[in-house]
Amino acid sequence: MATWEIDPKEDLFDGAGHGSDRGAGRSVTPELTAEDIDVDRTLRPLTLDQYQGQERVRESMRVLIEAARARHEPLDHVLLSGPPGLGKTTLAAVIANELGSRIKTTSGPAIERTGDLAAILTNLEAGDVLFIDEIHRLSHAVEEVLYPAMEDFVLDIVIGKGPAARSIRLDVPRFTLVGATTRTGLLTGPLRDRFGISFRLDYYSVDELAGIVLRSASILGVDMTPEAAVEVAGRSRGTPRLANRILKRVRDYAQVKADGHVTRQVATDALTFFEIDELGLDWMDKKILAALTGTFRGRPVGLTTIASAVGEDPSSLEDVYEPYLLQRGLIVRTPQGRQATPRAFEHLGMEPPASA
Ligand SMILES: Nc1ncnc2c1ncn2[C@@H]1O[C@H](COP(=O)(O)OP(=O)(O)OP(=O)(O)O)[C@@H](O)[C@H]1O
Ligand SMILES: [Mg+2]
Repeated sequence: MATWEIDPKEDLFDGAGHGSDRGAGRSVTPELTAEDIDVDRTLRPLTLDQYQGQERVRESMRVLIEAARARHEPLDHVLLSGPPGLGKTTLAAVIANELGSRIKTTSGPAIERTGDLAAILTNLEAGDVLFIDEIHRLSHAVEEVLYPAMEDFVLDIVIGKGPAARSIRLDVPRFTLVGATTRTGLLTGPLRDRFGISFRLDYYSVDELAGIVLRSASILGVDMTPEAAVEVAGRSRGTPRLANRILKRVRDYAQVKADGHVTRQVATDALTFFEIDELGLDWMDKKILAALTGTFRGRPVGLTTIASAVGEDPSSLEDVYEPYLLQRGLIVRTPQGRQATPRAFEHLGMEPPASA
């Protein structure tokens, strides 16, 4: 039985995640919808005080921003990593806001050619924040141009072609790059090394999420008790985006069935109605658990085998799904592979195999 123990000091979040966000339950769609984007925008905190949870990151950022401001220097480049919906984009905007800086937003795939990056950089003003989302998706050539810009605030560009080509060096305003990635594993070493500040966002605790839900409820004008907020928080997969999304469904339910007043009972009924899993597991989480408990009957299985069983690529499995399942004690990593825990069998209402 000892193999089921999880060492709490083990770094369960050392992977990284990937693009899309998934929901849970019948009303919560797998992909990011236009409504989500809208809600994200309305509910997005603007200051470090409004940004809840992530205490360590928040307090460090507070000190670093204050120091940069006092020295009248741009903040060092910041890399933010972590699974989808935990607040990377939000934090980038908060950083710019707290610095009193403008923010220019782009993403790795949007910067196709080196000329695109050159145009962005030369249009910046001193002190601006440049936010590059999905920074792991920058092309090699673009990355090469970014290095001297990050390090020495210069841009080496080649003018002309063939024998007449020459390289000129341009100065770039002193800016702060904030990069976000769900996939730190895919970031090249040289790029990672050029960030002076690097933070990994972790899943939020139920208390932290409950705070976020209450704040969102008050912005949306939802009349909700703190106990109801805890109910919603507990089923939000440690993820603020999901908490806000579920809150909206609970609001809809309460409006129709309970005059809009959300008590704990109303919240529980709504969550049951929308078939939102008690642990906030989404369909891919469930698919992974079903494979580990069903097909593989609790035996240890290699990452690539699980990946092909569920039709997902191994690195997103490791970066996006596994951290949450590990954190909830539903799977363990053993030298032989990933294994479902008795808790996983229990959660799925199955008998663990006698050997487990
Ligand atoms: N610390 C926080 N406090 C309050 N609300 C938060 C916090 N973090 C995130 N949110 C809420 O969750 C939403 C999603 O966060 P955000 O878009 O920043 O996630 P992300 O990490 O950039 O996700 P992705 O990887 O999909 O781009 C935000 O719009 C905001 O409403
Ligand atoms: Mg984002």
